Amino acid sequence: MDWPEPIIRVQSVSENCTGTIPERYIRPPEARPTSGPGQGSDVNIPLIDLGGIQDSNLRETTLRQVSEACRDWGFFQVVNHGVRPEVMDRAREAWREFFHQPMEVKQGYANSPKTYEGYGSRLGVEKGAILDWSDYYYLHYLPCNLRDPNKWPALPYALREVIDEYSREIVRLGGVILKILSINLGLNEDYLQNAFGGEDVGACLRVNFYPKCPQPDYTLGLSSHSDPGGMTFLLPDQNVPGLQVRRDGGWITVKPAPHAFIVNIGDQIQVLSNAIYKSVEHRVIVNSEQERISLAYFYNPKSDLLISPAKELVTPDTPSMYSPMTFDEYRLVIRTKGPKGKSQLVESLKSPR
Ligand code: OGA
Ligand code: NI
Repeated sequence: MDWPEPIIRVQSVSENCTGTIPERYIRPPEARPTSGPGQGSDVNIPLIDLGGIQDSNLRETTLRQVSEACRDWGFFQVVNHGVRPEVMDRAREAWREFFHQPMEVKQGYANSPKTYEGYGSRLGVEKGAILDWSDYYYLHYLPCNLRDPNKWPALPYALREVIDEYSREIVRLGGVILKILSINLGLNEDYLQNAFGGEDVGACLRVNFYPKCPQPDYTLGLSSHSDPGGMTFLLPDQNVPGLQVRRDGGWITVKPAPHAFIVNIGDQIQVLSNAIYKSVEHRVIVNSEQERISLAYFYNPKSDLLISPAKELVTPDTPSMYSPMTFDEYRLVIRTKGPKGKSQLVESLKSPR
C-alpha cells in the first residue's frame, strides 16, 4: 500500500506560496474555521490540579473534578501531573529543531500508509481528498516489539533520549489517569488498565507541525475528528493557540495553562464506559503569523484485545451500546478514510441489540 498521490510537504508549500494556498487545502464554506456560531473567548476546558489526588483532604474533590470533566467535556487540562516541566520543554523544542532541518534530512524518514511510522503529511489514502495544513511525525513507544529507535530521528542528537524519557513519564501518567477513571466509574481501580492489556498497553506519539498559513480562514490544520484510541495527552505549543473542542454545536479554542497537559477521552474509553464518558470532536486552526507544534501522545489498549462496555456498566436501563471490536480493526477506518468527525467511528458501532 502506498499514497495515492505524490506527497507534498505542507512546510514547503508554506515557504513557497505567496498570498494564496493551493486548492487542495481549501475547505468548502461550511467546514471552514469561520463557519458556525462563535464562542465566548472566556470559556475554557476545565483545569485540574492533579496534585490533589495525593492529598487526603483534596482527593475526593479532585476525583469529582475529573469525573465531571470526563462526563461534560471529554477534555480537561492537568497541572501537577508529575511530568517534569523541563522534560516537556526539552521534548517540544527538540522536535521543533527536527522540523527545522533541511527537507532532505526529513525525507529520509518519509512514512507510508502501511504503518504510518515516520515523517508524514496526510492521514488517509483517498485520492483527491482535501488535505490538512500540517506535517507530522509518528512513532511507536509501546508495545516494546514495535519500538524501533532507528525509525526515530537521529538528529537533533538529544532527540532519541528525550523521546525515551518523555515517553516513560507519559506512560506512568497514563496509568494514574486510568486508575482515577476506573474509580470514578465505580469499577475496580485496575479495571481499565487490565482492559487495556495490563503491561501490554500501546503508546504512540504524533508530533504535529502546523506551518504558517497565508489564508487561515480557508483551511484547517487538522480536520475535525475524535481520537480513536484510549486517551490522549497533548502537549500544546505554549505560545500559539490552535486546538478547538466541540461544545454545544460550536467550537471552543483551548487556552493552554503553563506546563499543563491537555487530556482527552478517546473512542475506546467511550466504548469501555458504555458512553458515560464521551470522546469529543476536536480540530486545529492555523494562523498566518506563527507556526505551531504539538505533541499528541496516544495511550491505547493492546491492539488485538476485544474492547466492549464494562459489564458493571451494562444494566437493563443502560444496555450495551457497542459490539466488541479490537482496536486494530477499529483504527483501520481512520487510517484509510482520514479524520472525519466521529460519524464513522463510535456512532457506527452501536449494536442493534
Ligand atoms: C491529534 C490532535 C491537536 C493539536 O493529534 O489527534 O488532535 O493541537 N492534535 O495538535
Ligand atoms: Ni486528536
